[in-house]
Amino acid sequence: MTENGFRAEEIDTSRPHPARIYDYLLGGKNNYEVDRGAGDRLAAAAPEVWSGVRANRDFLRRAVRHVVDSGIRQILDIGTGLPSSPNVHEIAREVAPDVRVAYVDNDPIVNTYANVLLRGSAATSIALADLRDPRAVLDHPEVRQVIDFEQPVALLLVAIVHFLTDAERPERVVATLRDALPAGSFLVLSHATGDFADRSAASAVYNTATATLNLRSRDRIERFFDGFTLVEPGVAEVPFWHPDAPPPTRPGEIGYYGGVGRKTG
Ligand SMILES: C[S@@+](CC[C@H](N)C(=O)[O-])C[C@H]1O[C@@H](n2cnc3c(N)ncnc32)[C@H](O)[C@@H]1O
Repeated sequence: MTENGFRAEEIDTSRPHPARIYDYLLGGKNNYEVDRGAGDRLAAAAPEVWSGVRANRDFLRRAVRHVVDSGIRQILDIGTGLPSSPNVHEIAREVAPDVRVAYVDNDPIVNTYANVLLRGSAATSIALADLRDPRAVLDHPEVRQVIDFEQPVALLLVAIVHFLTDAERPERVVATLRDALPAGSFLVLSHATGDFADRSAASAVYNTATATLNLRSRDRIERFFDGFTLVEPGVAEVPFWHPDAPPPTRPGEIGYYGGVGRKTG
């Protein structure tokens, strides 16, 4: 065991992990040489990635506030990433202190850090589970402990679906999750795109990582919202989704789309 309480054999430092690359790009400390190398190669191929991860994180913050303002009191955050201040439960509880949050990630490191962060709280949990098996996510005891699927839920799929290949049928994965949600629930989703520039060199950086990066067009990303009514302005470049200050970038600069949809039927 280490001082952080996890077994060293669980930490694979030979391959970059998406959670740790993202942590590095956000200025975090929970990453290794191999992740920093991948992050630097990514930034060399797509220099906007530094502002892109921040813009994505800002979208997450505004979207969480939006759904909690709209009455949501439980959040299922799949692909939560390493803790990054403010975390989803902290953002949500600034609006409503009684919000419950179930975090899910398939990276054991995320699970370990989240367990330390969330220790002792009955209103939050962390499940080690994989989005590619959505039924296992929905049935996970740590998810069931916090989420009541009879009540509206905000499902967060923020910067995760692009780690699923087409062969893994991401539309079907999202639809399985959607079908488990009652009316009044929300989907908050963001996704990397190559719509504004050729980003094949950036995606290639992930070929040696534990998950590949699958850029998709705006049309494809909109399809993940089938069965939801999109909140205005629909699927937008993340800096332009409900900005709470003048966006620091111009259209076409950040390769992430994001949107929020409400399940009405
Ligand atoms: C780029 S981070 C996004 C973190 C956070 N959602 C945000 O947007 O700030 C993507 C996270 O998804 C997780 N992830 C990737 N593929 C996954 C899968 N198939 N199942 C569960 N988690 C996955 C990674 O481990 C990582 O923590």
